[in-house]
Amino acid sequence: MQYFIINGETVSAQDASLKVTDLGLLRGYAVFDYFRVLKRTPLFLDDYLARFENSVRHLGYTLPVSQVTLKAQVFELIRNNQIENAGIQLLLTGGYSEDGFTPAEPNLVLLARPLKSQNAAHYTEGTGLITYQYRRDIPEAKTTNYAVAIHLLPKQKEFGAIDVLYHNGEILYETARSNIFVLRRDGTLTTPQRNVLPGVTRKHVLQIAKGVTEVNETDVQLSDLEDAKEVFITSSLKGVMPITHIDGRPVADGKVGSLSKTLRERFEAHVEEYLSAAVK
Ligand SMILES: Cc1ncc(COP(=O)(O)O)c(C=O)c1O
Repeated sequence: MQYFIINGETVSAQDASLKVTDLGLLRGYAVFDYFRVLKRTPLFLDDYLARFENSVRHLGYTLPVSQVTLKAQVFELIRNNQIENAGIQLLLTGGYSEDGFTPAEPNLVLLARPLKSQNAAHYTEGTGLITYQYRRDIPEAKTTNYAVAIHLLPKQKEFGAIDVLYHNGEILYETARSNIFVLRRDGTLTTPQRNVLPGVTRKHVLQIAKGVTEVNETDVQLSDLEDAKEVFITSSLKGVMPITHIDGRPVADGKVGSLSKTLRERFEAHVEEYLSAAVK
């Protein structure tokens, strides 16, 4: 990618930089969002822009430009980089603070990066999670602090896991980079609703799932994992990804479940429909 946008200015990606006094760097005071561009179309763009604005509000700011202007900047980034497929990141930081603590004029950055392809075997064979007792700060906002998850990468690797599942010892929250769904033994599909990031993929999967099975946005107990029929996670990059082991123990029979498979297929079809309907 050759160009990024910083505070409305197109700059070369090589030279794109913020000063070291930015609160995002000094204190982790920053929010972001991330979505895919597929076939030149930013997928579910309005959902991501609305969530980004909400995250910005949680930080105590208002978006420094209108939604219309931000949207125009997204399309400018796509045009300038001649993007066919990519990941776009929107970032708002706490700005150059005089005392290193008080929020200042925020910096708004748009970056584009090549899409990281997923391991196909994770969809056909499933993958794993490790659990960890932790709740993200300001969980309704997409903050940039992923320190706990990054710190746990070696343990994650040791267990052949793709992500870390956060919980409070009783109920589940989300994984470090996805939302979680649990198909309970009674056949109800459940997903945590409190203290989680309102995932855009989660929202679309919930809509799709309603036509397929009974769905409940509710507290999901850590103990529900022990006799769960199926578990899957959802995220912008991973879509619907089946989880077949948690902390090294198999989920049900350790195979990809049929609901996870059906919802993944329907979600992929839903994405294709969105792309076909989008005005280029
Ligand atoms: C903490 C957290 N929860 C959930 C998600 C999934 O959200 P989405 O489906 O919008 O990507 C993410 C995505 O990165 C995340 O960082």
